[in-house]
Amino acid sequence: MVSEEEIRKRVAALGKQIAADYRGMPLTLVGVLKGAFLFMGDLIREIELELMVDFVEISTYGDRAHSSGVIRINKDLKYCAEGSHVLIVEDIVDTGLTMRYLVKHLQIHHPLSIKICTLLRKEKQGGQDVQVDYVGFKLTDEFVVGYGLDYAGKFRNLKDIRAVPKHVYENEEKHDESH
Ligand code: PRP
Repeated sequence: MVSEEEIRKRVAALGKQIAADYRGMPLTLVGVLKGAFLFMGDLIREIELELMVDFVEISTYGDRAHSSGVIRINKDLKYCAEGSHVLIVEDIVDTGLTMRYLVKHLQIHHPLSIKICTLLRKEKQGGQDVQVDYVGFKLTDEFVVGYGLDYAGKFRNLKDIRAVPKHVYENEEKHDESH
C-alpha cells in the first residue's frame, strides 16, 4: 500500500511542518505503543526542535482485525505534560475511539494544547468524531500491517505498509465464531 520511500518522504515532510508549527514552544511528543514505535522514532528525528518524548500504551483490538471497542491503558505517561504542548503520535486512527479516550485522559495533565499526528487515517462512515491535525496517508477500509502495525502481533517489522487480504482475516473470524 505504501512503500518505504513514500513513508520516508512523508515522515520528513510531517517533521518539517511540525517543527514550523511549534517553533519556540515547549513540546512533548506522546507516542502510542505499540503500533507507533517506528513512526515515532523516525518522526522525532525529522523535527528540528528541542522536545520531550513520552509514551503511553493502549490496546483496543485484541488480536483480530476489528476493534473490540474495549480500551485499556497498559502504561501511562511517565512525565507530567503540564506547561507543555502535547502532540500525540499514533500509527493509525480507525474508529477514533482510542484517540477520543486518550485526549480526554491527557487533559488531566493540563497541557497547553493537545493535537494528534497519525501516520494512517481510515476514512469511513460511522467512526467517532475526532479532529486529527497531521495525517500521513489516508486509507479506505483496508486492514494494513507493517512499519509498526501488526496482525495478531506479527508483521510490525516490515519496512513498508501492506494490506492483509480480506479472506485471511475473514477466515480467522469464521474460525473463531465456530469455536
Ligand atoms: C490500534 C492502533 C490505534 C488503535 C486505532 O492499536 O495502534 O491505537 O488501534 O483504532 P481506533 O481508532 O478504532 O480506536 P492496537 O489496540 O492494535 O494496539 P497496538 O498499537 O499495540 O498494536
